[in-house]
This record gives sequence, C-alpha cells and structure tokens, in this order.
Amino acid sequence: MNNMAPRTNGETYFFRDHGQFDLLRLHVLPALIDRRRTAKTLRLWSAGCASGEEAYSLAMLVDHLLPQRDDWDIVILGSDIDAAALQKARRGHYRQWSFRMAPPTLQQRYFQRHGDEWVLDEHIRRMVSFRLGDLIGDPVPGGELRDMDLILCRNVFIYFNAGTVATVAGKLAAALNENGYLMTGHTELIGHRLPNMQSRLFAEGVVQQRTISAVPSVPLSAVPSPAPVRNAPPPAVATQLPGRPAPSIPSAEDLLATAREFADRGEYQDAEQACGEALAIAPLAPGPHFLLAQLAQLRGEFGLAGELLDKTLYLDPRSVAATLELAALCERAENLPRAQTLRRAALDIVRALPGDTPVEPYETTAAEMARWLAQ
Ligand SMILES: C[S@@+](CC[C@H](N)C(=O)[O-])C[C@H]1O[C@@H](n2cnc3c(N)ncnc32)[C@H](O)[C@@H]1O
Repeated sequence: MNNMAPRTNGETYFFRDHGQFDLLRLHVLPALIDRRRTAKTLRLWSAGCASGEEAYSLAMLVDHLLPQRDDWDIVILGSDIDAAALQKARRGHYRQWSFRMAPPTLQQRYFQRHGDEWVLDEHIRRMVSFRLGDLIGDPVPGGELRDMDLILCRNVFIYFNAGTVATVAGKLAAALNENGYLMTGHTELIGHRLPNMQSRLFAEGVVQQRTISAVPSVPLSAVPSPAPVRNAPPPAVATQLPGRPAPSIPSAEDLLATAREFADRGEYQDAEQACGEALAIAPLAPGPHFLLAQLAQLRGEFGLAGELLDKTLYLDPRSVAATLELAALCERAENLPRAQTLRRAALDIVRALPGDTPVEPYETTAAEMARWLAQ
C-alpha cells in the first residue's frame, strides 16, 4: 500500500443521504439477511469510510434489523487511506455536526453525551473494524477485502479520474459475492458500464447488483454514456410474428413498465424516452413523472427532480414514495422544516391505511412503514 497523504476531504456524517439509507434499510439489507438466514454470515464494507460515520450507520441498521444475532458471523469493515480519520473512527466520539442528517432518535438511542461530544455505544463500536487501505494501489479482492455482500463506496470516486473510477469500480465489483450490492454516490458511475453488474432501481435510488457470472480480472474501461438508441426491443410491447395479428398499440402502463425495465438495466436514456411516450398518451399519469424524477436524481439534477416530484404529488397527493423522495431531496438541500413536514405527511398517509396494505413500491406494509416513519 502506498504511504500517501489523503487526496480528498473527509466530509461525512451519519445517515448521509436519507434516500440511500432508506434503500438499504427497506430493501438491500432485508434481502441480504433473508438470503443469509441459513449461513448466518454477513459481510459489509464501507470503502472510503473517512471518520467512520457511514460504517457505524450500517452497524446501527444491522442492529435494528437483526436484534437477535448472537449466532451470526457479521463483518462490518471500514477502510480509508487516511490514518488520522481512521483513528477518529476507531474512537467513536463525534461532535453534533456529524448528526446533521441523522434521525434524532438514533442519536439518543446509540450515543451518550459527554460534554460537547457524543460517544458511540460500545456494542455498536465493536461491530465495526477499521483498516488502512488504498483502493487504487492495493490488491482488491485480497485479504479480508473479498466475498462482500454489500460495499458502500460513496463520495470517493468524485475525486478520481475516469480511468481510475473504472479500475476501482471493477475491483470492488470483483470483491462482491454473487448477487452482492455496490452502492456509490448518485452520479459517480454515470458513463461507466460495469460488466456483470446490473442496476437495480428502487423508489429511493439505485444500487448495482453483481450478477451470477464471474467478474473478469481485467480492469474495466470507462465507456461513454448510453447512446440515445434502443438496444433491445421494449419488453412490454409484443413483437409481430409472421401469421399473427399486428400488435396492439402499447398503453401508457405498458410504456411505463418498459421504462422501468430499461432503467433497471441502466439504460437511462431509453427509460426517459419510454416515459415521454407514456406521458404523450396519459399526460396526467403520476408514474412516469415519478420515474423521470428518479432519473433526474441519478444525473444529479436535483432541482428538476424536485419539480417532477412536486408534479407527481399534485397528480397523486397520496403517493408515499413521492412524498418520501421529496423529503429526502429537501434534506439534501438542507431544507429540514419541509423535509419534516413531508415525512409527517407520509406518516399520516400510511396511518390512514389498513395495516396490511402493501405500500408500493416498497416491499412493506402500511403498518411496518408507519413504525419506521414514527421513529
Ligand atoms: C468525502 S469522504 C466520503 C466518506 C463517506 N464515504 C461518505 O460518503 O460520507 C472521501 C474519503 O475517501 C477517502 N479516499 C480517497 N482516496 C482514497 C483511496 N485511494 N483509497 C481509500 N480511501 C480513499 C478519503 O480519505 C476520504 O476519507
């Protein structure tokens, strides 16, 4: 490993980016825990963890989702190139500024106040181990940096050039288990196509998932953003076969389903085009507006995403997903009063539903969602 000084700043805080942490809490970690119920192992890595807030946020989520875990073997690793940041991480003492986006209940549950510092509970601190490492120079996969179920590498790539992003992203992909997840910052992998990795799009954001086949050991190279052509026929539209009647014109629902499939495959421009076609048929449909908002977020166009979410809510004022997405955007913009108002509105919506009502597109019920939002 190079003995280099850090080349980036170490800004970080607990539960940085609510949308992404909601995605981890509601989808990714429950799916991993389910998958590992027999093996009872879980391997999570915060790569470029700075002073540890991200790795400990993961530990708190695991603590919440898996309170009975004595017979599990759980590895949560934080790594960084900055030795001083890691020293702070290992200590587990934080100033109030590290909690600027954290739910206050979590701060109270997991920290003790000592003067102007907050000291992390010992049982969470001991769930995480930290190691010095250079994502560029070190062999990855290698040593304990392998067979990961989930890697968070957020706000690290932004400091690398395109070639280095491709190389490091390829190394991280190779360090994942089959079906393991890689989460980066929203726009950090735009323009890079990772072989053997598939984008999974949720209401709260996007995560990359490693597909079954092996990841090649050669470094990946950056490729330009997807060209504005369709690479595959839209799956929801019937293909005309000889001797069969001509396919019917696709409905707005078909086009939205097609748009989602394009988005799931990382073909964002095609997804946008299909949304546009859906809106040409049904201009007042909230679904395409919502998907366009998600796509705008992926490009880092948060102002546009906010406008599209406002439109979605105008068209469907009881959309829990649009309300929560907009709350996450307001948090990002540090408009905390509006974020709080929106989260309360989402809570009111789910509380008014019978407890076992599924809340789309989350894989959860109204009762479960209300419990989360009330925390
Ligand atoms: C802005 S912080 C991100 C912290 C956290 N991931 C988050 O999103 O809140 C970027 C971190 O990446 C680390 N870093 C930069 N280059 C690195 C490298 N080559 N290997 C490992 N860590 C690196 C920096 O030391 C810094 O702590």
